[in-house]
Amino acid sequence: MDLGIAGRKAIVCASSRGLGFACAKALAQAGCEVVINGRDEARLAAAAAALKKFANSARIVPVAADVATSAGQQAPLAACAQPDILVNNNGGPPFRDFRELDRQKMLDGVIANMVIAIELIQKVIDPMIARKFGRIVNITSASVKMPLAGLDLSSGARAGLTAFLAGVARTVAPSNVTINFVLPGTFDTDRFRSNVEATAKKKNISHDAAFAERVATIPAKRIGQPDELGTMCAFLCSTYAGYITGQNILIDGGTFSGAF
Ligand SMILES: NC(=O)c1ccc[n+]([C@@H]2O[C@H](COP(=O)([O-])OP(=O)(O)OC[C@H]3O[C@@H](n4cnc5c(N)ncnc54)[C@H](OP(=O)(O)O)[C@@H]3O)[C@@H](O)[C@H]2O)c1
Repeated sequence: MDLGIAGRKAIVCASSRGLGFACAKALAQAGCEVVINGRDEARLAAAAAALKKFANSARIVPVAADVATSAGQQAPLAACAQPDILVNNNGGPPFRDFRELDRQKMLDGVIANMVIAIELIQKVIDPMIARKFGRIVNITSASVKMPLAGLDLSSGARAGLTAFLAGVARTVAPSNVTINFVLPGTFDTDRFRSNVEATAKKKNISHDAAFAERVATIPAKRIGQPDELGTMCAFLCSTYAGYITGQNILIDGGTFSGAF
């Protein structure tokens, strides 16, 4: 399907691997020029080389920066000052009992999973409004709908981001600027694999047994492939998704069992 966005400029934060990489890949396949980002320069360079294979003639611009910092946020914008598409993503937090969170840790978590995304949107949205085209997708988590004990800080910050932007989304809708959220359940990324490893160690079971335990909780009886999320992200960025805004798209193999 031609998504109608060939030649559009996109910034995909935290995209040298995992879900961000899959979003960058799907946008590159749709013909977008894509700024990709990560902190590790070697990993980012390898990701850029891999993406070029999918990109046909579209440009891939790697920008090494820590988007959790103000200085780091400037770097992707220096490479692409007026993107048509912004995908907000960041690394996830470690599991932690909420009693261990002091004020600074809480502030850092809110910055990482809420404030950064809002700051980037503030910087790109007015030119999108002026051009009458903008697509903003925030990768959050299924924990926005189904919070997990131990990930309380990210669940809270991400739910905060969702509520904050729900109002903003309606104010920019007349200008064909949309703001949506994709909520991953369990996806096959390095982050997921290291979580399984940690569970295996904690329970003193094998990696395969920890993996099987996790899969058993998912109605689809498998974990998600990053490309399944990347493709949804690219569709939300497409010409055809202009009437979808302020929505939370859960991609979790049926794990959230509410009908609505
Ligand atoms: N995978 C899942 O099942 C799942 C489920 C629910 C929610 N999520 C959320 O989805 C997001 C992506 O998860 P993932 O599984 O794709 O993670 P991942 O495999 O660990 O990949 C994270 C990516 O983000 C980059 N990154 C991390 N922190 C960054 C920073 N401060 N600045 C710039 N780049 C940064 C990493 O590169 P560098 O390390 O080189 O910077 C890497 O490219 C996370 O917030 C996670 O909590 C994932």
